[in-house]
Amino acid sequence: MSVLTKTKETVIISGQTPLFGTVTTQGSKNSALPLLAALPLLPEVELTNVPDLTDIHVMVDVLKYLGATGTFSEGVVKLDLRNLMNRPISADFTDQLRASSLFMGSLLGKFGEGRVGMPGGCVIGSRPLDIHLNGFESLGAEVDSTGGNISVISNGLEGHFTLPLPSVGATQNLICASVFSPGEVKLHNIAIEPEIFELVEFLNGAGANITFENPKTLTIRGVKRLNPVQFNVQPDRIEAFTLLVAGVATKGSVKVTHCRPEHLTAPLQALEAMGAKVEVGENWVEASYVGPLKGIEVETGFYPAFPTDCQQQISILMALAETPSILSEKVFNSRFRHLDELRNMGAQVKITNDNSAIIQRSKNEKGMIGCTVDSYDLRGAASMIIAGMVSEGVTTVKTLRYLYRGYEEFIEKLNRLGAEISYR
Ligand code: UD1
Repeated sequence: MSVLTKTKETVIISGQTPLFGTVTTQGSKNSALPLLAALPLLPEVELTNVPDLTDIHVMVDVLKYLGATGTFSEGVVKLDLRNLMNRPISADFTDQLRASSLFMGSLLGKFGEGRVGMPGGCVIGSRPLDIHLNGFESLGAEVDSTGGNISVISNGLEGHFTLPLPSVGATQNLICASVFSPGEVKLHNIAIEPEIFELVEFLNGAGANITFENPKTLTIRGVKRLNPVQFNVQPDRIEAFTLLVAGVATKGSVKVTHCRPEHLTAPLQALEAMGAKVEVGENWVEASYVGPLKGIEVETGFYPAFPTDCQQQISILMALAETPSILSEKVFNSRFRHLDELRNMGAQVKITNDNSAIIQRSKNEKGMIGCTVDSYDLRGAASMIIAGMVSEGVTTVKTLRYLYRGYEEFIEKLNRLGAEISYR
């Protein structure tokens, strides 16, 4: 991504151009972030297929602030971590990016103490860290979270902890904190998102001893040290789905390659249920518009349920469907702000309570009409761009800084598929 496009906050979209063609999936943001947060545990690393995103740059900046040396360029993070110091990760970092609070676990595991600023409020709802902190405490750490900072101290975690709900971040933080434990740590009711398996594979590849007792329970037996490792980040399942939705919404057909269709089961079922044609190969998916879309019921949940990170994108298809859909957001408590913008564009949207909405196509013959809309978060920004592509006339989408946190060359990819989007 060029520096120029990263700073462009607004795009103008000429709507109703169908997308056709093939596009490659980027490396996974949500895999790369926890891998980077785990790096204090390793002496040296080469990560490939790392997406060029602002959030990734923040994580690399944190590692350099801790003393790492090396580079992030052309999708490769190459770092020497032998001379890391245990410094507090201030709120300047954790406010920018919640994932930087995952350094708590790796610094605790490596140095016996992790200090991070309390992450600030988040646009998709309150995102507490209670499960992370209760987990550390239950496994024997001392936790102090007064004065806007969190400090966790332990000379080795040990024991069992059952997560009250399968938080992805808490599972990752607790795994990293336990890699060098003198005893054994068992985590129950863990998250089972593909990004968790990726972190375990990465750490085991470097010499950790982490085993699954069953899909929801894992045991970490401490090792003395980890070794240098090379690792290729898995494809981004959320970006893949976003591009597929863009194809169907614009009445086109998009084939996404270099992805893992097995990570997209629930979202692809939803696409099919709405009336799209979905074809799947070993590492590709093609989704095509073949006729009027039907309304469906979607409820987000923990993997393998329909992901909250795909909710805003599917809502665009719901806003084009002939019959009403019911959309329920069960993971976060404030992820519907984009629906007000869809309503402004003409879609029929009724928010029945904070986390549930009924959505249907515009009563207007022409469908949604382009106007100026704002983006409020990462997936919302991508979804507003798709909404602009399907609307009649011209749509201006503002506040694209959110988009660049998770999508690499998104506008460029869409334009190559036939969209007419220009930066302002
Ligand atoms: C990760 C993903 C994010 C995705 C989310 C859910 C990354 C970098 N981010 O975020 O894109 O939307 O998973 O799939 O991978 N919770 C608590 N207490 C805690 C922790 C979480 O109540 O201590 C709640 C949250 O408020 C939320 C739910 O648990 O309602 C899920 O959160 P969690 O799985 O932790 O999400 P993240 O790891 O922050």
